[in-house]
This record gives sequence, structure tokens and C-alpha cells, in this order.
Amino acid sequence: MVPLTHGHESEINRYYSARAPYLGKALEVPPSGQTLEIIAELKSSARGLAVLEIACGTGYWTRFVAPCAREAMAIDFSEEMLEVARSQQIVNARFLREDAYSLKSLESNQFDFGFAMHWLSHIPLARWDEFFSAFHARLKPGAKVLVADDIRRPDDEDLYFSRVETRDSYELRRLPNGQSYEIVKRYFAPDELHALLAPYATNLHIRFVRPRWWLTYEVVFAEF
Ligand SMILES: C[S@@+](CC[C@H](N)C(=O)[O-])C[C@H]1O[C@@H](n2cnc3c(N)ncnc32)[C@H](O)[C@@H]1O
Repeated sequence: MVPLTHGHESEINRYYSARAPYLGKALEVPPSGQTLEIIAELKSSARGLAVLEIACGTGYWTRFVAPCAREAMAIDFSEEMLEVARSQQIVNARFLREDAYSLKSLESNQFDFGFAMHWLSHIPLARWDEFFSAFHARLKPGAKVLVADDIRRPDDEDLYFSRVETRDSYELRRLPNGQSYEIVKRYFAPDELHALLAPYATNLHIRFVRPRWWLTYEVVFAEF
């Protein structure tokens, strides 16, 4: 596979590969509150269908969704993340190392439901079309999509800043081993989400409640 060349995107891959062992620990904590609410919606949307999950990480969400689906394809760029995901031996789940911006090993019009958790915030604005074009091409016309991501906590101490050259926002993330990484991370406002998704989505429904927003829509078919 060709390595990602965009500077801050290879930084994001170094960051998540190094973070995989720490994120694996989260699998031991039983979900509660809003997480359970989102899991219920994911499960009912996926039931009996062919499902595509983008940037699955450790398989945190996959383990709830895949067993309800007819089949679930979960992709991520980090082999370290995929190793944790595969070790769970989740029923119906296939894990594949893929770049979310190309998805080139997946066929078109293959999946009935798509989801991506904590991924949208990492997409540079300049690659937004590239991602949605690749993602939606793998879904059937009118397929349902669910995406979710963080709302920044007021007490969050990670340095958060923008760069004029890219119009992207970044966060400085530190790992317990002392390494730090500057990654693209955008904390969206609801109207911003609406404006960004509108060209690709119909029946867009956004819920914005701490600790994270989540939204559903159906795919609008268009060439970007
Ligand atoms: C915040 S984590 C989310 C993981 C998982 N969805 C969750 O909610 O637990 C972001 C994930 O995006 C993956 N990622 C980063 N760049 C990627 C790319 N170009 N293609 C596919 N996955 C990518 C990282 O390896 C990481 O697992």
C-alpha cells in the first residue's frame, strides 16, 4: 500500500498507531449513557445488512454492530489498531487495512449502511470531497449513514489551534510515553456540520449533545 504523503496525515497515522495499545484498554470499560444510545441506533440501522465501517480503530464500535449485520467490513489505516480489533474475533467482521480516502480494494455499490466514529474531525477540509466521494461510491444509492464525533470539553487542556494556510484546526496530543503529535482535529459547530454535509446528504438529522454529536443521513448520488 502506498504510504500517505500529506504531512499531517502521516502524523495522524503515527499518532494512532502509537496510541493503539492505550485505546485497547477502553474495550474493558462497559459502555454507558450516550454511548449505549448510539450503539442501539447503530445496531438497528445495521440489522441484516452489508455494513461498511470507516476508521474502525480497535473495533470499539464494530463489536456491537457486526454481530447484528449480515456482513461487516471495517477498515483502518493503522495495522496496530487492526491488530487489536482482530484479536477480539468479532462475529461477521472483516478487518482490512485501507486508506479511507481511496478505499480502492472495495467494490462500488456494495454496502447498505455506512458508519464512521470519531473520524470526520480528522479530515482536512481540502480532502473532504475526496473522502465522501470514495465512501459514498461504496454504498448503494440511498444507503443510510451514521457518523459521530467529539464535542470539545471546556476543561480540555490539549492545545487547539488553526492554521490560515490550510483553514484546518489542529490539536497537540500527548501520549503517556511522553511523545507528542500535532494532528488535524476539528470540533464542529452544528451549523458548520450542516453546511459541510448538505451537498452529500438527504434527510440529514444532527444531534448535538455532550460528549459527542452524531448525525444520520441518506446518500445523495452525485459526481464530485
Ligand atoms: C479517533 S480514531 C477512531 C477509531 C474508532 N472509530 C473509534 O471510534 O474508536 C481515528 C482512526 O482513524 C484511523 N485513520 C487515520 N487516517 C486514516 C486513513 N487515511 N484511512 C483509514 N483510517 C485512518 C486511525 O488509525 C484511527 O484508528
